[in-house]
Amino acid sequence: MIALVNIKNSRTNLEHDQKKESEIASNRKVIHLRVYRKNPKQGKSSHFDKFEVPVQRWTTVLDALLHAKGYLDNSIAIRYSCRMASCGSCGMKINGIPRLACYTKVSEIDENIITCEPLPNFPIIRDLVTDFSDFFEHHRAMEPFIHNPNADIVDKNSLTEFIQSPKDVERYLQSSYCIKCGLCYSACPSVGTDTKFPGPQALAQAYRYFADNRDDATQSRLDIVDTKHGIWRCHFAGSCSVVCPKGVDPALGIQLLRGHLVSFSKNDKKLAESRTRSLGKI
Ligand code: SF4
Ligand code: FES
Repeated sequence: MIALVNIKNSRTNLEHDQKKESEIASNRKVIHLRVYRKNPKQGKSSHFDKFEVPVQRWTTVLDALLHAKGYLDNSIAIRYSCRMASCGSCGMKINGIPRLACYTKVSEIDENIITCEPLPNFPIIRDLVTDFSDFFEHHRAMEPFIHNPNADIVDKNSLTEFIQSPKDVERYLQSSYCIKCGLCYSACPSVGTDTKFPGPQALAQAYRYFADNRDDATQSRLDIVDTKHGIWRCHFAGSCSVVCPKGVDPALGIQLLRGHLVSFSKNDKKLAESRTRSLGKI
C-alpha cells in the first residue's frame, strides 16, 4: 500500500516538473539585440552590432545586454550598478525612447528587435556609456542643499530640529525622488538646442529646494534660474515628465517656479507693462 502511494506521489511530482519545464520553454524566445557601437578614441564611425539573445518573460533589457556582453562580445560598454532602478546609471535609448535598461522588460517592448542607443544630448564616451559631466554641473549650479544658518551644527549638544507638517513635505516630496538618471535631460528638445540650458532635472531640483520651507534662499534660487539661458528656455514640450521612471514631474516644477518668477519678476518690460496697467494706460 505504502509503495503504491509513493509511486503515485513521484508520478505527480514528475508531471508537475514537466508542466513547469514546458511553461518555462513556452516563455523562452530569442530576440535580436541591436547595440550601438562607437569608440571615439579609435576615430571609427559608429555602427550597430546585432546579437541573438535568449530571453524569458521577465528578462530586462539590461539582462539581455549582459548576456550579449558575457557570452557573445565582451567589448560592449554599458554602465549599470543597482539593477533595481535606484542608481540611475543604466539610462539609454531603447527602441527610440529614453529608459532605464534594468527597469525595462523585453516583453513590455513586445518587438523582436530591441535597439539600444546611448542617451541623446550627452557626449558619448563609448558605445552606450555617456558623459554626465555637464548634466551634474547643471545640477550642482542649483545648489541642491538646504540653505539655512540654523542647519549648521555649531554645537553638537544643541542641535536644531526642523519641524515640518505632512503638507510641507508634500510640496517637494515628488521632486525629491529624482535619481539623476538623465532620461528627462535626454528627452528635452531645449537641451538639444542650448547646452547652457540647465535642463529639466536641474530645474526640478531648483523647485525641490525652493518649495522646501526649511530653506531660506528663496530669492537667490529664483535668481539662479532667471537668466538668458535659464528657465525661460523651456518650451514646455513635457517629454521630461513622460520619460521619468521615478514619477517626478519636472515640467510641473518648471511651471510652478515660473509662476513665482512672473509674480516677482525683475524683467523691466513686464514691470513697465504692469505699471502702465495700474495707471490705466492699457
Ligand atoms: S527627474 Fe526623473 S528622469 Fe529626470 S533625472 Fe530625475 S529621475 Fe531621471
Ligand atoms: S542599474 Fe541602477 S538604475 Fe538601472
